[in-house]
Amino acid sequence: MPTRQPISLGLSMRYIGYHAASWRHPQAQPGAGSDFRHFVRLAQSAEAAKFDMLFLADGIGIRAKDAPPGALQQTAQSTVLEPLTLLSGLAAVTERIGLVATASTTYNEPFHIARKYASLDSISGGRAGWNIVTSWSEAEARNFGRDKHMDHGPRYARAAEFVEVVKGLWDSWDADAFVHDKASGTFFDPAKMHVLDHQGEHFRVRGPLDIPRSPQGRPVLVQAGASDAGIGIAAANAEVVYSVAHDLNGAKSYYDKVKNAVATAGRNPSGCKIMPGITTFIAPTETEAREKYEQLNALVPEALGLSYLYGQMGDLSGHDLDGPVPEPTDPAVRSIAKGLLALAQRDNLSIRQLYTTIAAGFGTRILIGTPRQVVDELEAWVEAGAADGFNLCPPVLPSAFDDFVAMALPELRRRGLFREEYSGTTLREHLGVTVPNSRYGGAVVPRE
Ligand SMILES: Cc1cc2nc3c(=O)[nH]c(=O)nc-3n(C[C@H](O)[C@H](O)[C@H](O)COP(=O)(O)O)c2cc1C
Repeated sequence: MPTRQPISLGLSMRYIGYHAASWRHPQAQPGAGSDFRHFVRLAQSAEAAKFDMLFLADGIGIRAKDAPPGALQQTAQSTVLEPLTLLSGLAAVTERIGLVATASTTYNEPFHIARKYASLDSISGGRAGWNIVTSWSEAEARNFGRDKHMDHGPRYARAAEFVEVVKGLWDSWDADAFVHDKASGTFFDPAKMHVLDHQGEHFRVRGPLDIPRSPQGRPVLVQAGASDAGIGIAAANAEVVYSVAHDLNGAKSYYDKVKNAVATAGRNPSGCKIMPGITTFIAPTETEAREKYEQLNALVPEALGLSYLYGQMGDLSGHDLDGPVPEPTDPAVRSIAKGLLALAQRDNLSIRQLYTTIAAGFGTRILIGTPRQVVDELEAWVEAGAADGFNLCPPVLPSAFDDFVAMALPELRRRGLFREEYSGTTLREHLGVTVPNSRYGGAVVPRE
């Protein structure tokens, strides 16, 4: 087998799959999205497949709107289990796979986050990661005493300081601080405890953290910024970046932009893995793969399908859904609808076809085909320097994930693109990213 740098693979296991109609699939269990046993099964399958990590996206409240009316009651994507609680449960029934949970810098305090992720890292033996988000909806703001979501600028200024404080708190203890000397009665060496005493624009946090340094030295930091401010946070901190890209050129230019920003921030670009999201429909023949895609698309309820266009195109429920996409007349949406209209006109899509292309993967890149066709695409992106791995967002869980494992993984392995076995025990080891130094220069990982 040729020797090459293996790619990283993550399983995003939100709901019962990313497709809007996943819960209506004949084999789906509609309530599984909040059933712990569903996630145990997925986590254990992903670990058996040697995936780098599990990922849970999150919003703090129901972000979907009932627009057009009737859409909200048709979605299974509003109710979820809280990610850190869920991953703590999964830590106990897995041994190697990484556990990445999303948490917002807008609706938490840094001490909460430092403490919870250090705990997860400790409970899991070094497998925790934090997907840093600033949240985006008014629905979330209204759950936290605000009428409006914070503006982008101040939100990211708070986030940048927030992450600095969290990293500072994670350095509270050197890894060898706890000497446990029964003879002298010394539990820890006070020279190896550090008080952060942060005084900033947004936070005043004394510290130290009330949990010893965690097994990874520092949980893995993950980000998915698109704006300059978002990319700035990724450049300074992220060891994994999730990206959204639909074509190779777009993927490559985002990849280069982030890697350059990482280098400019003084970090090694190879310590930041870029993982575009993909949604796959795989079958032994292309026709069967396409049938899987069409079968789910036919199950998208109309109001829910239209809700995917509502924000950009307005309410299209009065139109023939199998007719052409109309020119938007509402001035509020006219300019932002241009991209969607151009896509519909280019591919001659009806309204129904337009919304199903979005509803199929929640905006991620969709790959439909045989194992070889799908892996050809993945390999092309890796070879072109547009991806270091992929964040798999299956349309239906668990079946579409099982398809990936049964059909795409053997093909990836045949090409030397994915590991046969784990070689380490921590998420950092799976990803091949080093433990950062402590700001105090102390020991960062426990001695063997
Ligand atoms: C793959 C991926 C996953 C994301 N997960 C979440 C999430 O779980 N919660 C959230 O509030 N935002 C999430 N986001 C949104 C990003 O954090 C970010 O706000 C968005 O990419 C826009 O970038 P900007 O904030 O720099 O403008 C995600 C984005 C991507 C691409």
